[in-house]
Amino acid sequence: MRTLYGVGLGPGEPELLTLKGRRLLDESSVIYTPTGAIASRSRAADILLGLGIDESKLEPMVFPMSMEDSVREEAWKANAEYIDVSLADGATASFVTLGDASVYSTWTYLVRALARRTSDIQTPTVPGVTTMSAAAAALEIPLVIGDESIALVPTPNRIEDLVPLLESMDTLVLYKVGRRLESVIGFLEERGLAGCSYFASNVGVAAQHVQVGFPDLDAGKGPYMSTIIIRTSDAQ
Ligand SMILES: C[S@@+](CC[C@H](N)C(=O)[O-])C[C@H]1O[C@@H](n2cnc3c(N)ncnc32)[C@H](O)[C@@H]1O
Repeated sequence: MRTLYGVGLGPGEPELLTLKGRRLLDESSVIYTPTGAIASRSRAADILLGLGIDESKLEPMVFPMSMEDSVREEAWKANAEYIDVSLADGATASFVTLGDASVYSTWTYLVRALARRTSDIQTPTVPGVTTMSAAAAALEIPLVIGDESIALVPTPNRIEDLVPLLESMDTLVLYKVGRRLESVIGFLEERGLAGCSYFASNVGVAAQHVQVGFPDLDAGKGPYMSTIIIRTSDAQ
């Protein structure tokens, strides 16, 4: 039997890794670090190096950021095959993810691809600090209090799809904002919700930027790592 741990690293600040995650990374003979392209060093690798983890243990694993389902599925399958073939009997290894390993994470797809291939690799998950938690901390706001409700969603292409969520939730967290930043800002400003909206990009790394509302934000150049928190309960 082999063991592959899925370890959530938190969004960027090395100290936010759990003690359990740290111990298991130390016990792992190899640490797979997901990246979109082999040439680029991933943020996950930066966190690990920031923790003083031996670089020779890191093995980049490419998951192309493609819109094509078949391209992504092929990568999950090929990487699962590679892990199955290369992990020796009794080996302990880790696969790291940014934030928490159960929130929009490649880890889930990899676990499924491994399970389809072999029953000889166990895949326990070690949770990590989510981006939304770290963003709320950086902004010094609560995510939810009392009996408030919260929803986390990937930013929809049709921004109007946010309307029912904003009507039913006290807090709405938008991930995967990307090129939709400009339209999200326009939508929230039109509805008088900019004052209770919070923007956080590159949380936990040197380029971290957080702000209340959207004044002076270059909406055309929103960084890929951007999160928006809307607290409708704070609306005036
Ligand atoms: C694929 S999801 C990964 C979420 C992650 N597993 C978690 O627990 O937060 C990627 C999205 O998370 C958000 N994100 C991840 N890291 C971030 C960071 N350091 N700063 C701001 N947003 C971040 C962005 O919205 C990005 O599009």
